[in-house]
Amino acid sequence: MKIGVFDSGYGGLTILKEIRKRLPKYDYIYLGDNARNPYGTRSFEIVYEFTLQAVKALFERGCHLVILACNTASAKALRSIQQNDLPEIDPSKRVLGVIRPTVEIIPQLTSSNHVGLLATPGTVNSDSYALELRKLSPEIKLTQKACPMWVPIVENNEFNSPGADYFVRKELDYLLEKDPLIDTIVLGCTHYPLLLDKIKTFLPDNIKVVCQGPLVADSLADYLQRHPEIESRLSTTAGMTYLTTEHTDKFDSLASLFLGRSITSHTISL
Ligand code: DGL
Repeated sequence: MKIGVFDSGYGGLTILKEIRKRLPKYDYIYLGDNARNPYGTRSFEIVYEFTLQAVKALFERGCHLVILACNTASAKALRSIQQNDLPEIDPSKRVLGVIRPTVEIIPQLTSSNHVGLLATPGTVNSDSYALELRKLSPEIKLTQKACPMWVPIVENNEFNSPGADYFVRKELDYLLEKDPLIDTIVLGCTHYPLLLDKIKTFLPDNIKVVCQGPLVADSLADYLQRHPEIESRLSTTAGMTYLTTEHTDKFDSLASLFLGRSITSHTISL
């Protein structure tokens, strides 16, 4: 049995990379729904429907555990899948998201207790981060900003272009004007680490920028240790399969660029 990692496109590769670094022995299947990306501007119902299709496809291909390496899917679909769908599909399988492990770490990172969140319109409108944070660390003031252009910039390999400068700077300026006491900015979309170098050039050195990959990897390692009933089912041949709903040529060239080595994918339809 394998670990499935799902995203609407390439962004989840930033999570997969860190998970495989931390937990290299397991077998993984990555699925990017590139043909229907972006999810961040879609309705709650559509994101749920697409995410459920993806989870089922990963289960059918031998995954026992699926990580939604996508904040938008975690915000809009995770709870319904965990509560309503999994009991019917197979109660022994698991689906985990990326929002909770991120929120758990925030209090350790901020000194001012003023935190910024950059995410897709879907994640920001769901208010999932604010709701989780209110439960776990009510002393933290969260200022959110949706960045509707950032995912298309990444998916179209424009993250190093001058056009990207304009949109990156615009959202950062807005966030810091809204709350000048922010000392930590969470990249609450798995595509955004691909813009990290650019983001840093527009921020003062005292502001921390948080990417989710390493902390999701730590959280998964901890989860597997606490759940031997899941861990013992996972196969350990260090295998890796890449699936996309787009043509493989496009996926292979961009994914290889993001991962820093060449990969070969297969197309599936959901
Ligand atoms: N990478 C996804 C996330 O973390 C969403 C990208 C999209 O809009 O499809 O939210």
